[in-house]
Amino acid sequence: MKATARACANIALVKYWGKRDARLNLPAAGSLSLTLDALVTETTVAFEAGLAADELELDGVRAKAADAVRTSEFLDLVRALAGTTMRARVTSANHFPTASGLASSASGYAALALAATTAAGVTLTTRELSVLARRGSGSAARSLFGGFARMHAGERADGTDAYAEPLASPLTSRVRMVIAVVGGGVAKAFGSRDAMEHCAETSPLYAAWVALVPADLAAARAALVAGDLAALGELAEANALAMHATAMASRPAVIYWQPTTLALLAAVRGLRSTGVAAWATMDAGPHVKVLTTDTDAPVVALALRSVAGVTAVTTAAAGPAGTVS
Ligand code: DP6
Repeated sequence: MKATARACANIALVKYWGKRDARLNLPAAGSLSLTLDALVTETTVAFEAGLAADELELDGVRAKAADAVRTSEFLDLVRALAGTTMRARVTSANHFPTASGLASSASGYAALALAATTAAGVTLTTRELSVLARRGSGSAARSLFGGFARMHAGERADGTDAYAEPLASPLTSRVRMVIAVVGGGVAKAFGSRDAMEHCAETSPLYAAWVALVPADLAAARAALVAGDLAALGELAEANALAMHATAMASRPAVIYWQPTTLALLAAVRGLRSTGVAAWATMDAGPHVKVLTTDTDAPVVALALRSVAGVTAVTTAAAGPAGTVS
């Protein structure tokens, strides 16, 4: 009745931004990501007879009520599959670089899905596990897999075809992501869940964003199969800018960037103009993640470190699939 799982966070190269069903957490479009070895979450779940309520400890301290409720709702899904009402003790730790500000629901719910199903004795196929992780967080469906992963939007109302799967590419072994943390990882101004909903309701660019994603996914996939990092990088940077443009056009605006974010974007363009492989992507925060190669990663890291306002720089390689024991 106890299991421990490890899963790595992922960064989307074609972003998930918007839902077609909030209750089942179904994405409005597909997405594509790279799992990163430097960002690991380790979670232990123990179902215990006699526990009156689920208990959640995050990074050594009792979790906030909102996080505890969301975790309990996810555990309810696992309890329903297992046919049990037993409550669980959940202990989760993010082994992320100090003050990275990158704590993500992706690795968290992927590790929770693995640990909770194993602890409850529920056996699922990889696809079913990805569908389950998606209920916790859309990006978590991708974090079960190593390397590149793509998420299918699916068409069914029950969400059984909205899952992620790994994508093999000759780029997997030599791709790197250099993460520049801006402003010490302050708490997000708008969580991605609320922001994407607000964006879908108010942004005049939202429909165009959702319509754009299938073409970006097809192009990203072709670049991955061909091993064309430049094509993948250009596409990823353009896709991230389109997502942020959509968010910025929301009313009121959702602006994740800080001045340092723009300075980093300029530094990345500067690197590119000198022939260095470097393409930027940003998520629901001010940090900039730069797609590059094993050979160019040191020069990229050096350049990003010298940008004023950058508080930490970490280089990650493609991470492994989630594991459980
Ligand atoms: C900007 O997966 O955190 O990182 O499904 O509501 O939990 P929920 O959203 P979440 O959103 C991730 C948004 C993003 C882009 C991405 O990872 O694809």
